[in-house]
Amino acid sequence: MKVPYLDLRVFEPLKSELLEAVATVFDHGRILLGPEVDTFEAAVADKAGVAHGIGVDSGSSALLLALRGLGIGPGDEVITTCLSWIATANAITMAGATPVFVDVRDDLNMDPAAIAPAVTERTKAIIPVHFCGKMCDMKAICKIAEEHGLTVIEDCAQAFGGHNADGRAGSFSKVACFSMNCMKVLHSYGEAGCIATDDDALADRLRMLRYAGTIGRQDCQVPSMNHRLDTVQAAMLLVNLKRYDEIVSRRRAIAAMYNELLSDVAAFQDAGDKDGHIYYTFSIYVDRRDELMAFLTEKEIETKLNHAPLMPYHAAYKARNLGPFPNAERLQKRAICLPVHEKLSDEQVRYVADCINQFYGS
Ligand SMILES: Cc1ncc(COP(=O)(O)O)c(C=O)c1O
Repeated sequence: MKVPYLDLRVFEPLKSELLEAVATVFDHGRILLGPEVDTFEAAVADKAGVAHGIGVDSGSSALLLALRGLGIGPGDEVITTCLSWIATANAITMAGATPVFVDVRDDLNMDPAAIAPAVTERTKAIIPVHFCGKMCDMKAICKIAEEHGLTVIEDCAQAFGGHNADGRAGSFSKVACFSMNCMKVLHSYGEAGCIATDDDALADRLRMLRYAGTIGRQDCQVPSMNHRLDTVQAAMLLVNLKRYDEIVSRRRAIAAMYNELLSDVAAFQDAGDKDGHIYYTFSIYVDRRDELMAFLTEKEIETKLNHAPLMPYHAAYKARNLGPFPNAERLQKRAICLPVHEKLSDEQVRYVADCINQFYGS
């Protein structure tokens, strides 16, 4: 049995619904920042529980514009996790600031206890990343930010619609950044992203930065590039948004099956409170990880690593000689991501679990 890590094919009846949504855009002809973008922005803001959504062309752009919108740039430091997709660190660097990396806790999310020791007089902001779709300890992070006078920017790229007992992804910070690229749980059919904020003036500034630093597409106020979200992507995102709760429920059901079937052989990234996890990825920690991965490949089960190497160990950052990050390094050697997408059948999930148990002789 083949178990793909992701399956981006589109089947009926969704295919017809998406084509119809695109045809509507062709009919009204507002290809750039059309009405579907406005509706999508409002929906994202609503889900995050804030006033404004600003649709952009990617999660990377969302992060870059958030930093620029807050006036963070050369000479400033931004504290972030050492474990994320490299876009988080690159956005800080491209804004002209310096990323300062801290270690993670056992759930692969930024360790709040590591933040205060990393603060210097140059620190301006903290970017926590809700990794795999599980929320960071935002209460603790926001408390530290307040104590040090720092702004929080949530990287919600992997966590649209996630929540914890204290609130929703995107509601804790000055500004939150989402990715809706084709691999995300709420996804477009290409690249897309959104920024969310409660701050009216910041929302206006972000809209200006989104399109060449112009107001009303005229007179450039601040040099910026083109980061607009395509109307056709927004139209298709609105179709997928209607199925979003169903998709997340299915992912949660698959995660629950793995938790039950693998409890003898693995530890789990989602240990503890699972309610608000949206399972962008499902990570377990195991012994002999590389051997297991090779064994699963032989069984035609596709798995992935959690964004290896750590961001500070990419070639672009290595020269700074940062680290060590003991917890992230320990967990990254043991972590493996299993397929968790909503197109999987129960039979496929059981097959993955059976093969893993077979490998450990359990
Ligand atoms: C944590 C995180 N931040 C930022 C991004 C960047 O988003 P995009 O690929 O839409 O530019 C991603 C994308 O996967 C991500 O996972």
